Amino acid sequence: MPGAVVVGLQYGDEGKGKVVDYCAQKADIVVRFNGGANAGHTVIVKGETHKFHLMPSGVLWGKRVMLGAGTVIDPKLLLDEIAQAQKAGIKPKLLVDYRAHVVTPWHKLLDGASEVLKGRQKIGTTGRGIGPAYADKVSRIGIRVGDLLDAGKLREKTRFLNELNSKIASRVYSIEEVPQDFTAEYAEYGRQLAPYVGMLSIELNMALSEGRKVLFEGAQGAQLDVDLGTYPYVTSSNTTAGAACAYCGVGPKHIKEVLGVVKAYTSRVGEGPFVSEINGHLADKLREKGKEYGTTTGRPRRIGWLNLVAVRYAAMINGTTGLAVTKLDTLSGLEKINVCKEYECEGKMVGQHKADAEFLKRCKPVYIELKGWEDPGPAGWRAMVKNGYNALPKECKNYLKLISEFCNAPIYMVSIGPGREDTILLKNLF
Ligand code: GDP
Ligand code: IMO
Ligand code: MG
Repeated sequence: MPGAVVVGLQYGDEGKGKVVDYCAQKADIVVRFNGGANAGHTVIVKGETHKFHLMPSGVLWGKRVMLGAGTVIDPKLLLDEIAQAQKAGIKPKLLVDYRAHVVTPWHKLLDGASEVLKGRQKIGTTGRGIGPAYADKVSRIGIRVGDLLDAGKLREKTRFLNELNSKIASRVYSIEEVPQDFTAEYAEYGRQLAPYVGMLSIELNMALSEGRKVLFEGAQGAQLDVDLGTYPYVTSSNTTAGAACAYCGVGPKHIKEVLGVVKAYTSRVGEGPFVSEINGHLADKLREKGKEYGTTTGRPRRIGWLNLVAVRYAAMINGTTGLAVTKLDTLSGLEKINVCKEYECEGKMVGQHKADAEFLKRCKPVYIELKGWEDPGPAGWRAMVKNGYNALPKECKNYLKLISEFCNAPIYMVSIGPGREDTILLKNLF
């Protein structure tokens, strides 16, 4: 009964989509457990680029894919992604939990309005309505996917939400132009999604008890976890491995492996502390080489060196059993590489990651300088993939060893390009 979880150990965009796609080949079921269309996962197969916001990355293998109760679903976008997969010749074997929450036009409006009101304290959200959708969920006024299938229930819920949110929009945010009533539109989405809606936890537990392999796909990254990340500069869901259980209704005994995805350097979209951030020519170079622009919003990602203090903390809170290190190709061709192994704040050394975002903003990185490795070019990388881990440049292997030692977890996978084939596998998840 093996379950394995894939999570990001930084600020999102570590390359989870690519890693999940790779691992999904051996899985029977792939389940996305948190977040919504704030996520953007790019998967490149045979030169063709697929971008998903909601659909689990395992869909490209034709696997059973699921969206857990802890996700928030933009129904129009999900239908678009179903159509996108169908266009690529895949009939998604999708199951959406009845209890997943629905993102409405109100959520997007309030997401944007709250960012404007916050001014300099804004979070830099993706504008996909994520925060307000989770807020409605915990306020117990949210619409669930199952509600879309019941016209009467949906009408009753939207009537209340329209009344409440019109007042919030005009009295709090002075917004007069509000969304049209979306009941009929959402009922139609419900009609189209109905074949995909069910009790995910029952099917999943049955599958696990039959010995089927389940891959849990996390969105975002550890530092964006609402409880454990750089609050308030976080998303509104739990992004760490334990959430796979809570958000899907599966007991922890089923989780045999937790694969933490680490990008060889760091990127962050949106506001918030970023101790190892770099600016200027090198940051621009890495951004261009690594194509570091948000999949969801197109925003240029902030760039920095690898922060091993934060990654070690992330590996710990996730119970990471193995690591997938991505984008070693992007980091190649540099004479020297910096790695943050400690912080310094107001004259004091800080060896452990901290909970206070304002404190972290004042921290300066303490780097160790490592020798970089040459860029062998596409043919050189291909040869290394063919010949395996030992064929990697010595400096590259030292870098991987350092990450592994800091995180107290072995390297399972090394990614040296965006394609499925640009992967060196050291240990299978299943
Ligand atoms: P996710 O949100 O963690 O799934 O990551 P994204 O898909 O948003 O961002 C990662 C980006 O890096 C995507 O454009 C991937 O195609 C790309 N990528 C993933 N792994 C590698 C790698 O090893 N090398 C390079 N050059 N690109 C990669
Ligand atoms: P994937 O799955 C990177 C960031 C936003 C913002 C903060 C809150 O592709 O790794 P939200 O819209 O969730 O309320 O925004 O979280 N953020 C991400 N950054 N990758 C993501 O997902 C992200 N999802 C949210 O930029 O700073
Ligand atoms: Mg992404």
